[in-house]
Amino acid sequence: MIPAALTQINGQAMAKTTTILGLESSCDDTAAAVVRQTQGEPAQILSSVVFGQTELHSAFGGVVPELAARAHAEKLDLCVRDALDQAGVGLGDLDAIAVTAGPGLIGGVLSGVMCAKGISAATGLPLIGVNHLAGHALTPRLTDGIAYPYLMLLVSGGHCQFLIARGPEDFSRLGGTIDDAPGEAFDKTARLLGLPQPGGPSVEAEAVNGDAKRFHFPRPMLDRPGCDLSFSGLKTALLRLRDQVVADNGGLKRQDRVDLCAGFQQAVVDVLVEKTRRACALYLAENPDVPTLAVAGGVAANRAIRAGLESISAGLDLSFTAPPLALCTDNAAMIAYAGLERYEAGARDGMDLAARPRWPLDQTSPAMLGSGKKGPKA
Ligand code: KG4
Ligand code: ZN
Repeated sequence: MIPAALTQINGQAMAKTTTILGLESSCDDTAAAVVRQTQGEPAQILSSVVFGQTELHSAFGGVVPELAARAHAEKLDLCVRDALDQAGVGLGDLDAIAVTAGPGLIGGVLSGVMCAKGISAATGLPLIGVNHLAGHALTPRLTDGIAYPYLMLLVSGGHCQFLIARGPEDFSRLGGTIDDAPGEAFDKTARLLGLPQPGGPSVEAEAVNGDAKRFHFPRPMLDRPGCDLSFSGLKTALLRLRDQVVADNGGLKRQDRVDLCAGFQQAVVDVLVEKTRRACALYLAENPDVPTLAVAGGVAANRAIRAGLESISAGLDLSFTAPPLALCTDNAAMIAYAGLERYEAGARDGMDLAARPRWPLDQTSPAMLGSGKKGPKA
C-alpha cells in the first residue's frame, strides 16, 4: 500500500513535494522567496530576493513607516516576479502563498498581505499568514534541519527573547528585553557616532579595531535573577561617554570611535551570553535529552555575539546552530519555510487574514512594554 504522503505517477510512488512562495514586508526590506521541500529531505531555498530600503530612509536616521509602506507596495510585484524567475517556477507550480501578517509596521504588513491575497484570489492558491518572529525562530530548521524542541534566542532590531520552540505555532517565552531590542541599541550607537545605518554591521566593523576595556559600560540586569534583559541603559552610557570625550578633547578621533564601539559591543555580548546561560539552565531542566540552542534575527549576524554563544554552548554540551548571515536578517525564505510548516500541519487562512502590528509568539506570557523600531513590542 502506498503511504498517504506519497503520490503515484505512472505507477511509481513519488515522495510528496511542497513548494511555497513567501512574502515579507514588515519593516524596511521587501522580500520574496520560493522554498521547496520533498518529504524526508532537507528544505531547499530555490530563490530569495530582498529589495532593501536603506537609502530611502538614510536622510531620516531611522525607518519612516509611510515611506516604507509605499515602497513595499511599489516593489512587491517586481520582487515576486524575480523570485519566481530565479526559482524557475511559475504560479502553477506553487502549493501555497505565505505572507508575513505581523508583527511589524502596519502599512508594510498590509502591503504584503494585500499582495498575497491578490495572488491567492487570482490563482486559487491557499493563503498562509505567518508570524514574522516564527519566521526567524524556525530558520535553523530551514538551514540545518534541527529537530523540535530547541531553545531559541531571537535577537533583532525590534525583538529580543528566549523561546522554547516545540512546533510551528508552539512557543514558550522564558524571558526577554524589558525595553529596547539590541538591534535598536546598535542602530542608536551608530547614529550617535556618525556611522551609517543599519548600525549593527557598522558598529561591528569599527569594534574590530577597538579596545573594549578603555571605556566602562554597564552590564544591565545581570544583578537580577532570571533571563530578562535591558538595553536602553547602554545607549545612555554611550551618549554620556561620547560627550565626555568631546568635552575633554574637543572632538571625537577615529580611535575614540572604535574604542566606544568595542566597549559597547562587548557589553552587549557579556549580557547576552550570561542571560543565555541562565535560559539554557531553565531549558535543560525541562528538556535534558534535547540540548539544542539556536540563534536567529538580524543581531545574530554579529560575529562577536555568535562566538560568545558558541563558547557557552560548548561549555554546557549544547549543540549550537546559527543560520548563515543572509538568513539572519529579514528575508522571505524564512517566511516561506514557516508557511510550509503551517501548510503541512493543515493550516489555511481566508481572505479575512488580518495584518497585525502586534502578535506575540507566546500568547500566554505577559505583554512587553516599550516601543521598538517596529512599533509596540510583541
Ligand atoms: O531581523 P532584522 O533584519 O529586522 C528585524 O526584524 O528587526 O534585524 C535588523 C537589526 C538592525 O537593528 C541591525 O542593526 C541589526 O539587526 N544587525 C546587526 C548586525 N547586522 C544586522 N546587529 C549587530 N551586528 C550585526 N552584524
Ligand atoms: Zn526580523
